[in-house]
Amino acid sequence: MEKIFTRILMKWHYRSNQREMPWKGEKDPYKIWLSEVILQQTRVAQGWQYYTRFLEKYPTIRHLARANDLDVFKLWEGLGYYNRCKNLLYTAREIVKEQKGIFPVKYDEILALKGVGPYTAAAIASFAYNQPYAVVDGNVFRVLARFFGIDTPIDSAEGKNFFTALAGKVLAQKDPGAFNQAIMDFGATVCKPFSPACSHCPLQKECVAFREGLVNRLPVKEKTLLRKQRWFNYFLFEHQGQLLVHCRTAKDIWQNLYEFYLLETDELIRWDKTSVQNWLKEQAGIRKAMVTHLSKPLVQQLTHQQIKGQFIRIQLSSIPPLLNKYSWQPIEKIRELPFPKLITGYLDTSYSFLP
Ligand code: ADE
Repeated sequence: MEKIFTRILMKWHYRSNQREMPWKGEKDPYKIWLSEVILQQTRVAQGWQYYTRFLEKYPTIRHLARANDLDVFKLWEGLGYYNRCKNLLYTAREIVKEQKGIFPVKYDEILALKGVGPYTAAAIASFAYNQPYAVVDGNVFRVLARFFGIDTPIDSAEGKNFFTALAGKVLAQKDPGAFNQAIMDFGATVCKPFSPACSHCPLQKECVAFREGLVNRLPVKEKTLLRKQRWFNYFLFEHQGQLLVHCRTAKDIWQNLYEFYLLETDELIRWDKTSVQNWLKEQAGIRKAMVTHLSKPLVQQLTHQQIKGQFIRIQLSSIPPLLNKYSWQPIEKIRELPFPKLITGYLDTSYSFLP
């Protein structure tokens, strides 16, 4: 599986990856370092401008080392977390003073620079020098967790070790720089956090998450359970007088209570019939469905978290394989099951059991 993953990803990269960014293909370690530090602070669209402005003013590490602190802070303005900027300056000056302005080449020496962690060190070593170090960022966690179907929390020590080892195994040894770029771009444009483009994903056939309907459950985060505000999007799939239900068994709120098909998101999704249809097509290969009702957001306040729920009713003309393994219950029996208050609230006010 690991070989297939790498082969397909690299093929996608060379044939279909259309993502353009100014630091792509860059070989100058100073520029790569700068881009990665900026991208730890912001998204690509905004980071782009900072990167360009920085390089106009400080085209080489020597320029940066000679800069006035306040001028650099001014350029950094809006990115926040000034320690990153201070480290950038500090390290630029160290390299100029101690290494004649020549960026270190060995991974361990890059990693030893102030403000450079394993992620940035791997990015610099692989992009600048094509050394076989795998980057492990949010994109990489997500792509690997889904493709290989791994539910070890990515924010646990065990998860970090596991995914780092796995990234090392799938890394294209002959082409590590391109591989790292490929997996990050793939995570950002195809295997996206929300509504990934599964229907035209080249890895779909072998993807464990896709096959088992887990795309929106992976990757798992331990700390999700501690989040204060959560958005639950419930899909009420109806088919021939039956409703899809699921018993909550995970170590989380509402254990042993029932619910409908859940898509948890970090923020409010403004659903309309078209976006629901698109989501169904992408995620579950469902082309024939009727969206019969979209509820307003409902709220349930728990002791330590607030749950906001939206309910989407969908009539299916057949059950897609992805939903097969769920339990289907006759609609008139639904109220015999125990549900959390958020759901009974919805059923009481908005759900008519008449077909
Ligand atoms: N995010 C951080 N660094 C990146 C890179 N080099 N390419 C794509 N996304 C990134």
